[in-house]
Amino acid sequence: MKVMIVGGGGREHAIAMAVKKSSRVDKIYCCPGNAGIAKIAECENISVMDFEAQVAYAKEKNPDFVIIGPDDPLAAGIVDEFEKAGFKTFGPRKNAAILEGSKAFSKDLMKKYGIPTAAYENFDNADDALKYLETASFPIVLKADGLALGKGVLICNTKEEAIDGVKSIMLDKQFGSAGNRLVIEEFMTGREVSVLSYTDGKTIKIMTSAQDHKRAGDGDTGLNTGGMGTFSPSPFYTEEVDKFCKENIYQKTVDAMAAEGREFKGIIFFGLMLTPNGPKVLEFNARFGDPEAQVVLPRMKNDIIDVMEACVDGDLEKINLEFEDNAAVCVMLASEGYPVKYEKGFEIKGLENFEGKDDYFCFHSGSKFDGDKIVTNGGRVLGVTAKGDNLKEARKKAYDATEWVSFDNKYMRHDIGKAIDEA
Ligand code: AMP
Ligand code: GLY
Repeated sequence: MKVMIVGGGGREHAIAMAVKKSSRVDKIYCCPGNAGIAKIAECENISVMDFEAQVAYAKEKNPDFVIIGPDDPLAAGIVDEFEKAGFKTFGPRKNAAILEGSKAFSKDLMKKYGIPTAAYENFDNADDALKYLETASFPIVLKADGLALGKGVLICNTKEEAIDGVKSIMLDKQFGSAGNRLVIEEFMTGREVSVLSYTDGKTIKIMTSAQDHKRAGDGDTGLNTGGMGTFSPSPFYTEEVDKFCKENIYQKTVDAMAAEGREFKGIIFFGLMLTPNGPKVLEFNARFGDPEAQVVLPRMKNDIIDVMEACVDGDLEKINLEFEDNAAVCVMLASEGYPVKYEKGFEIKGLENFEGKDDYFCFHSGSKFDGDKIVTNGGRVLGVTAKGDNLKEARKKAYDATEWVSFDNKYMRHDIGKAIDEA
């Protein structure tokens, strides 16, 4: 069969690699793709938000199955457009993608259905939000309601910081229309774990756990990024935590969406915080994490098409989801200066070192062809990933492999997975 993937980052490269392994697939298309994905898929440089051009491309190539990678097109209803044109498409429709697309929606959903999360209030004007801060306790967390490239969350230690934050989100529109509404929520403490799942709207199957490193600098310093590295599984995701979440979070979320008439088919990514009062939901995403996909998908034993098709068809129940009993670590190679200001267009050398090695992967996040050279084309450039028998071995292998590739302004964190030493 023929499969089309929408997106062009490391997550979509990991999805493409999993699709490539499927014995059922003989051709992959990817829009826009990147220089890494181009090795295994036919790529066409179409923006993920240009639904008309994406669908027109699909009509030309006639894929049997379409997979949507990123959040923005999902929230804007790309699945509905592909379905209208008759394509079998993996991902939530617009009315369900709101689970990620509006934090105010997701908080209200959790409150209504008793899903554990931080206490909060929603605001649709700055005056009310500022008044609320008068009697609040600090630190406090401000969240722009809409999608903001993972950057719309401000942790404010003092009232002054929070006042500035409300003004910059709601009045100065630092995150654009994402800041038309604001969630102000209780500050929680604890370890963070990412748990990804497949759901067909009724049944939910949990994937192996992972942990991201969102800050740009070693020791969790610096600005928030899209993610500087991941490991999987998380040793902090114990059986006890799993049991709690299965009883109080996962199925409840799927059922809540169905009860609201917003049947969710696709990936639900649960961003959890393991607080002293038990696991709570920090956020939902309506798609694979990036770079969580890069450590979770290489460990999945199932044929990804079987699983995704079962989600669309509504018979996920019959799938026995299985992961390898090993570990993976992904270290993001970024451009110095990311996430603020950085140069692009530098030649990437050494990519051939990854060829023919089963345990090593070099997922491209931001790369493109410049003639016959491959050059950097983003803040996050490559997700260097290794599998090992355990987390320590995977981490050593991943860091060794970061030396195999070079480009000017190469930057990485040196402590990805360091937390596992405390487990
Ligand atoms: P989110 O996009 O909602 O996952 O938030 C981004 C990051 O902000 C999370 O990964 C946490 O590190 C942090 N964060 C979000 N909400 C809270 C909260 N209520 N308490 C403490 N930290 C938070
Ligand atoms: N790695 C976090 C995310 O994809 O949102």
